[in-house]
Amino acid sequence: MTFTRKVADLVPIVDTVFAVAELAKADAQKIGAENVVNATIGSLFDEKGELVAYKSVFDHYNQIANTTKAKYAASFVGNDSYREQVYQWVSQGANLNLYHRVIATPGGSGAVSMTFANILDAGETVILPNIAWGSYKLMAMQNNFEVTTYSLFEEDHFNLTSFKSVCSEVLNKQKKLLIVINDPCHNPTGYSMTRKEWDEVITFLNECSEIGPVVLIDDIAYIDYAYDIPQSRKVMESFNNISNNVLISVAFSCSKTCTSYGLRCGAALLLSKTEGGVREVEIVFEKYARAIWSNIPNAAMDNFTWVTTDNYFSFLSEKQDYIDLLKQRSDVFLDEAKKVSLPVYPYHEGFFVTVKCKDNTERDEIHQRLINHHIYTVKVNLGIRVAICSLSVNKTKGLATAIKMLME
Ligand SMILES: Cc1ncc(COP(=O)(O)O)c(C=O)c1O
Repeated sequence: MTFTRKVADLVPIVDTVFAVAELAKADAQKIGAENVVNATIGSLFDEKGELVAYKSVFDHYNQIANTTKAKYAASFVGNDSYREQVYQWVSQGANLNLYHRVIATPGGSGAVSMTFANILDAGETVILPNIAWGSYKLMAMQNNFEVTTYSLFEEDHFNLTSFKSVCSEVLNKQKKLLIVINDPCHNPTGYSMTRKEWDEVITFLNECSEIGPVVLIDDIAYIDYAYDIPQSRKVMESFNNISNNVLISVAFSCSKTCTSYGLRCGAALLLSKTEGGVREVEIVFEKYARAIWSNIPNAAMDNFTWVTTDNYFSFLSEKQDYIDLLKQRSDVFLDEAKKVSLPVYPYHEGFFVTVKCKDNTERDEIHQRLINHHIYTVKVNLGIRVAICSLSVNKTKGLATAIKMLME
């Protein structure tokens, strides 16, 4: 006898990051933290190994009145000031001419999973990149979807050929598409698509939309760590060319932008050529929000609005220091990788660099060898993720060489 739904998956969750991070912690206790490289954690850490919590974000948060923190949000779709500011923030510098709606969600996770749950029916297929954040698959499984993946790279660029062929196959079968693209600063490779690549994707999706509705999730969780913030938005002008039968759900997260992972604040920004399109999805999303999480922390929304308006310059400057630091760390790793011919996926910017593996057997072997040498990383499909976001410059030095040696 079981208590859960007939379709419930009774296999306990395997958190690939948590398990290895625990091993790293135990090892550090045994042999000293200075002798361990813990490149598992996907949050921003400073050079002393402390979790970063932006002063420009949390000093103000701590001053918010208790009653504001205690209060429910103004509505199930979020506070209007927050909804408006998310749109301004995400589209800053881009000239978007689409209808839009913003629905507040618990982090970017809420935005992605809400889109999954309300766009496809059980048994239908969602299209994911073959190298991707693991939660997409879990979300798909929870919704009883099938998953198919496009190969993310062809040499060192976006694999449009694979993208097209996978989409066409699914379209033939179900006359509808739900696709995830995680861009810019892709987790786990750090790839960012060019305007040309986006244009090609949009042109192709418009063709698909003659056969059935197309919903594209653009997961922008790490967008605020792009080296060129205006350009990270400018590429979205490509969305202006979508046809009436294409809808884009941009999954925004305050978690990384504000180093406020625990405040559970994010949003789905819906974009469509038609007002009816965004309104239809908003109606469905609002009911879903009410039924699942009800509303988003009031103070977290208000704080984001304040930080990105009144405190704009100090926030930007504090965040920029960490973008620079990420660049410093990735430069060290990548320069060395080049010198020793360590294969890595095309990294542009962001929290992670991923070492290429021939297959997952090789990956498992190297991952274990690294552990045996006190280097802790995260396994991803066809690769090994190195979280430079949580690794000091000092610990980054020599790492590519060590991995290369252990790969031979
Ligand atoms: C690719 C990607 N998307 C979305 C998220 C969502 O994070 P959160 O729900 O904390 O906003 C994460 C977090 O790790 C991520 O890596």
